[in-house]
Amino acid sequence: MDDLTQLFKNNREWADSIKQEAPTFFTKLAGQQAPEFLWIGCADSRVPANEIVGLLPGELFVHRNIANVVLHTDLNCLSVMQFAVDVLKIKHIIVTGHYGCGGVKAAMSNTQLGLSDGWLRTIRDLYFEQRERLRLVEDEEVRLDRMCEMNVIRQVANASHTSIVQNAWHRGQPLAVHGFIYGIKNGHLKNLDVTVTGPEQIPEQYRLSPP
Ligand code: CO
Repeated sequence: MDDLTQLFKNNREWADSIKQEAPTFFTKLAGQQAPEFLWIGCADSRVPANEIVGLLPGELFVHRNIANVVLHTDLNCLSVMQFAVDVLKIKHIIVTGHYGCGGVKAAMSNTQLGLSDGWLRTIRDLYFEQRERLRLVEDEEVRLDRMCEMNVIRQVANASHTSIVQNAWHRGQPLAVHGFIYGIKNGHLKNLDVTVTGPEQIPEQYRLSPP
């Protein structure tokens, strides 16, 4: 059996097992999706969004890219956010990083990877900004993990500064932006407690007036 055949075999077994437990599961879902959460996570194969938080199809809207970056010029991530907030009316945006992130590690190294170096550039800028603080951390692995946390915190800020999020607040739509980090070594998810739920938590320079 070749690699791809195995995937289709797995898929049929998965669909059958769900149908056995809940015969109307797929037909109900085909009608509509009503997720409460938008997950913005790393593309890393070890960080599968739904599995980590035990959510079924239909319960988590997902965007993933290398190192869970939220950029104000990234049409892909912004479109996902806009659709999730304006159309699906999700209540929580969860930016989830993970310890030992290869993307963050690459942004801290001098080795060239190619096109993805450009993608990771703002993490390198963050590393430069935080260099004095990080210099105090002697252990290389611990330093990388601190950077992984700081990256999540930066991306939570970036997400909450978007007009998408601020306009939801202006409309009175409840919306929170959270920062989580996942431990690849133990499977545990940790809340970094940097939740933003309103414009008063945003620096004045980033605050937008209602349109
Ligand atoms: Co990663």
